[in-house]
Amino acid sequence: MTEIKLKQVRKAYGNVEVIHGIDLTVDSGEFVVFVGPSGCGKSTLLRIIAGLEEITSGNVEIDGDVVNNVTASDRGLAMVFQSYALYPHMSVYKNMAFGLENTKMPKAEIEKRVRDAGALLQITELLARKPKALSGGQRQRVAIGRAIVRDPKAFLFDEPLSNLDAELRVTMRKELAALHTKIGGTMIYVTHDQTEAMTLADKIVVLQGGSVEQIGRPLDLYNAPSNVFVAGFIGSPRMNLMSAEVEQSAQGGICLVSGAHRIDLPEIAGVAPGDTVTFGVRPEHILVTDRDNADVSVTVEFSEQLGGQTYLYCSGGGLDDLTVHQMGQMKTEKGDTLHLALDRTKMHLFGADGAVIVNGIT
Ligand SMILES: Nc1ncnc2c1ncn2[C@@H]1O[C@H](COP(=O)(O)OP(=O)(O)O)[C@@H](O)[C@H]1O
Ligand SMILES: [Mg+2]
Repeated sequence: MTEIKLKQVRKAYGNVEVIHGIDLTVDSGEFVVFVGPSGCGKSTLLRIIAGLEEITSGNVEIDGDVVNNVTASDRGLAMVFQSYALYPHMSVYKNMAFGLENTKMPKAEIEKRVRDAGALLQITELLARKPKALSGGQRQRVAIGRAIVRDPKAFLFDEPLSNLDAELRVTMRKELAALHTKIGGTMIYVTHDQTEAMTLADKIVVLQGGSVEQIGRPLDLYNAPSNVFVAGFIGSPRMNLMSAEVEQSAQGGICLVSGAHRIDLPEIAGVAPGDTVTFGVRPEHILVTDRDNADVSVTVEFSEQLGGQTYLYCSGGGLDDLTVHQMGQMKTEKGDTLHLALDRTKMHLFGADGAVIVNGIT
């Protein structure tokens, strides 16, 4: 089992720093997902761990040993890429065995490992085929098999499912989760897809602009984002985020004023009249109600009827993009007025600097 630690890791290309001092511990056997928008440094960080990129400063440690000067091949980690990088002229068997044949491993041991990995990945009947005779999902299984046979200290995946169609991605996602349960190895997985991150990770690392925004278990990030960026990034459809001015409320607490909307709240530590805040509420924490109980009244722009659930996209009174999730079916027309109540216990407030003030108002 393998623990990986980054300590104040920095990386610059020329004089442009792209990784800004990252601290991170990947526990032994943990499935850690790096997630963030394109260009935020996910691949660079993974390649740093793999030993494919030198770092400018800091330390990378594997099981307590600093490996900054250890080559990629000597780190004992296996990487699986988005492009499968299979050898087209070799059979599936050979593609998986090839790396081991360059070591002194006995032939019988190689065969055992390839067959075991083949069985685990359910590609036994494909071992004699060439990659061109495989589907995208099968090719990705072979690429994963090639990593498994090496019995690596840890698996590093860089957007391995991005080339697959949506349906296959869901299937492969489940298989990867099952694989992790079966082999129990340390895995680091890069994706820009927050659904993949939510469903696969023991621990998510949210990156932006070469820095860590937040590290935590999926639902902890979902329920208690530490800033506006994480709030908006984790969750699909995304959290509704609205800028508001704080005023004194006639009821004694505070009032959030956003366009024509006024939302009365109790007093909240750290929020004073005159402040500008961002308030956030997820689509599923908004209730369709009547005028008397409404926090905001808006107009339906369009709706998505998924059968079991309905998404309503609304605007009005200065809000131009409010998403409401309702269980079940709800007939609405464009232009209908909706009266909405926001669940205070699930409301998030962020300060002008983007840092969270409170997750859930009591
Ligand atoms: N070889 C390179 N030379 C210069 N800049 C690079 C190089 N590789 C990546 N970068 C820059 O580093 C940043 C992070 O890139 P990357 O790790 O590939 O992002 P991600 O995988 O999150 O999309 C980007 O701004 C990218 O342009
Ligand atoms: Mg990348």
